[in-house]
Amino acid sequence: MTHSFAGKRIVVGVTGSIAAFKVAGWVSALAKEEALVDVVMTVAATKFVSPLTFGSLSGRPVYEDMFSAEQEGTISHIGLSREADCILIAPATAHTIARLAYGLADDLLSTTVLAARIPVIICPAMNVQMYGHPATARNMKILKDFGYLVIEPESGLMACGEEGSGRLPEWEKVAEYVLREISAKDLDGQRVLVTAGPTREPSDPVRFLSNRSSGKMGYALARTAFRRGAEVTLISGPTTQQPPAGVELIKVTTAMDMHQEVMARYQDKSVIVKAAAVSDFRCATQSDQKIKKDRSSLVMELEQNPDILKELGALRDHDRQLLIGFAAESSNIEEEGRKKLLGKGLDLIAVNDISSSTCGFEVDNNQITLIDSSGVKKLLHTSKIKTADLIWDHVVTNKMLKPARP
Ligand code: CTP
Repeated sequence: MTHSFAGKRIVVGVTGSIAAFKVAGWVSALAKEEALVDVVMTVAATKFVSPLTFGSLSGRPVYEDMFSAEQEGTISHIGLSREADCILIAPATAHTIARLAYGLADDLLSTTVLAARIPVIICPAMNVQMYGHPATARNMKILKDFGYLVIEPESGLMACGEEGSGRLPEWEKVAEYVLREISAKDLDGQRVLVTAGPTREPSDPVRFLSNRSSGKMGYALARTAFRRGAEVTLISGPTTQQPPAGVELIKVTTAMDMHQEVMARYQDKSVIVKAAAVSDFRCATQSDQKIKKDRSSLVMELEQNPDILKELGALRDHDRQLLIGFAAESSNIEEEGRKKLLGKGLDLIAVNDISSSTCGFEVDNNQITLIDSSGVKKLLHTSKIKTADLIWDHVVTNKMLKPARP
């Protein structure tokens, strides 16, 4: 099950802040992903961005006035929320937040929210002092108590020239929260630990041993687990991947660092996925100074790193924790996979076919074979994000998850 915006109906409520112009880009992004976007604007919002702009980007009518919308017979405030998958209010001004907190129903947006029985996501954006005022804090708490999801604003330089909290976040982050709200939460209550990326084993202050892992597969697993409702911790070696929204990110460098972080955090997790390409060896000694080329050859002694996955296989609680490993193989995929499944005490292994240059290391696609006690399943050759969803689908449909915490 791929989590996407295609075919989803999203009501975007735009209120009167300069950040409204940013939301025009959000509506455009949603429309490109084939969502049906119904934009509802407050009167103040129309002073910042024209309804024509939003209508041109969504390709659908834009709603402003409660009475004209109903008179035209297009759609009612009840109908708007009844047919939608969620309401996203962005930017949400202090004024709108206060009106929603007090249940006012004096315009189309507030009545639409009041009549809604679908997820409501609020993205506050305002001057830093207004955001910090106790009235705003109290009103936001009321909205959270209603069960609305409030995505906290970010810090930075604001349009008013002041610096602090109150800026609208970027769409890449908000999109993840919206996807989570409109998706089937089949990992709800699960606490997922994912490791990703390569490790680096330094030999001196400027050099290290590493491998070609980009971290894409592990990041895709973390991102999709969050979308499906899990609480996710990602322990990552050095990568250029963007931190996934909503995910706790722990950055590490060496295999020993990764070992330490995993051991400190695995115990309360219900699913552990080791997608990282951990260096099997590290330099036995590290020079404090840069190693010079004043010799004709150089022999470096390596010593073995702990096999973190194997250790987890022995330590984890089988009744409470699902353990998933990865392997990179260029031949005898099934045989090698089965050997690691048994040898490391795993529930499931995802074997990566690295024999072709179109999948595996550094590229966006993967060809994975899943092996567990029930058999072998070859997944489609597809993007890493879709592959991650297919792995979670396998775990869910085969009822491999352990009971979620109460
Ligand atoms: N792994 C680990 N700690 C290590 C090495 C590997 O946790 N020191 C984990 C990886 O995160 C991955 C799996 O083990 O989930 C890969 O197993 P490994 O035996 O290292 O696979 P390959 O690198 O493919 O092994 P080999 O080179 O022996 O085929």
